[in-house]
Amino acid sequence: MQKVGFIFDLDGVIVDTAKYHYLAWKKLANELGFEFTEEQNELFKGVSRKRCLEILLEIGNISATQNQFDTWMVDKNIDYLAYIEEMDASEILPDVPQVLEYLKKKNIPIALGSASKNAKPILEKVGLLPYFDSIVDGNSVTKAKPDPEVFLIAAKNLGVEPNNCVVFEDAVAGIQAANAADMLSIGIGDSAILFEAKHNFKDFTEMDAAFLEALLA
Ligand code: BG6
Ligand code: MG
Repeated sequence: MQKVGFIFDLDGVIVDTAKYHYLAWKKLANELGFEFTEEQNELFKGVSRKRCLEILLEIGNISATQNQFDTWMVDKNIDYLAYIEEMDASEILPDVPQVLEYLKKKNIPIALGSASKNAKPILEKVGLLPYFDSIVDGNSVTKAKPDPEVFLIAAKNLGVEPNNCVVFEDAVAGIQAANAADMLSIGIGDSAILFEAKHNFKDFTEMDAAFLEALLA
């Protein structure tokens, strides 16, 4: 039997941090004199911090010097870090620990494949870091999702062929990255938005043991 590997996105799959990213971007937008809605925040899912700021400035029709751009990137992250400082295991999304535990018991290699540069401290805070055999995050990649780089590095680190990897993602860019890497993409969230995924679940509570078992076979 071929070795199978599992790769999890972080924000929106393991923890509900999208709300904190939103609050931090909204604060910056308000300081710059414009509104930023939760709907617009959808565009930011799976997208690198730098690209998010570029989109935010397009929304506000603001042009920035390199110096201002760099300062605002830092400001946003300081605010975001203040929110995640308070995080604990209560903010893990439903049934995530059960799925990780199930895979661990079966000795299945597990990686994180996230765009975030804050991934490791978040996993540490919520107590899930020990489950991961490899952490590939925003510090490890040169190309952002939908480029498959993040997932291909994760597969390599796990010693698993890309086409034997399963990816859980809540972002369109992430599903596209998994598909481009020739991996099995599983959307966690709204199937109407994540329609490019091979399978879709609202959250992990909808995914039963039989489905997971079938993926391992
Ligand atoms: C992704 C989030 O996981 O990480 C994006 O979905 C975020 O919204 C990106 O912009 C980068 O995160 P960070 O923590 O490096 O600013
Ligand atoms: Mg995500």
